[in-house]
Amino acid sequence: MLYPALFLLLALATFHVSSKGEAPPVAPSLPPAAREFLEAHNEARAEVGVEPLRWSEQVANVTSKLVRYQRDKMGCQFANLTAGKYGSNQLWAHGTAVTARMAVEEWVKQKLFYNHTDNSCVPNHKCGVYTQVVWRKSLELGCAQATCVKEDASLTICFYNPPGNYVGESPY
Ligand SMILES: *[C@@H]1O[C@H](CO)[C@@H](O)[C@H](O)[C@H]1NC(C)=O
Ligand SMILES: *[C@@H]1O[C@H](CO)[C@@H](O)[C@H](O)[C@H]1NC(C)=O
Ligand SMILES: *[C@@H]1O[C@H](CO)[C@@H](O)[C@H](O)[C@H]1NC(C)=O
Repeated sequence: MLYPALFLLLALATFHVSSKGEAPPVAPSLPPAAREFLEAHNEARAEVGVEPLRWSEQVANVTSKLVRYQRDKMGCQFANLTAGKYGSNQLWAHGTAVTARMAVEEWVKQKLFYNHTDNSCVPNHKCGVYTQVVWRKSLELGCAQATCVKEDASLTICFYNPPGNYVGESPY
């Protein structure tokens, strides 16, 4: 494990193999952090002509529970997420405060390495976090953040419903 002097941000995505998902209904009014998560996602999606996500309070509640568990039991480490009901992106940060918008912008940085022409990623780079952000068939978003004071770390988790990152499929 790498412990740099100032700060470090690490991003992680899940990948899926085919199955079917169905979108539950939408939440009405949004807390500020939710709005920020949603807007930052939808800006990245609009840039490549992909329709906006909707915020799901139900999905957000699942991420809230998960980040609280990771905070209380795991020192804000990445959650161990394998292909499940939702797609997911995570950001672990050490030594720096991370707002909702900053987390999403960190994920969107992978765009630099993603080649949409042949749906490929520059060798030795990762694109899966970005491709989940702009995955057209993902319709709903829910996110949460937690901070671990002792570890000087934070964890941001977003879930996407239905999940994206189906291996071999193009995001849009
Ligand atoms: C989400 O959690 C809040 C707070 O615990 C609760 O009031 C609300 O009913 C939950 N919403 C859904 C859709 O589960
Ligand atoms: C994560 O979970 C999977 C499946 O539940 C398990 O096989 C794997 O060992 C776990 N990985 C870690 C790092 O705990
Ligand atoms: C993207 O992939 C296409 C098709 O393989 C290739 O022609 C093009 O040069 C690539 N673009 C970049 C920026 O690498």
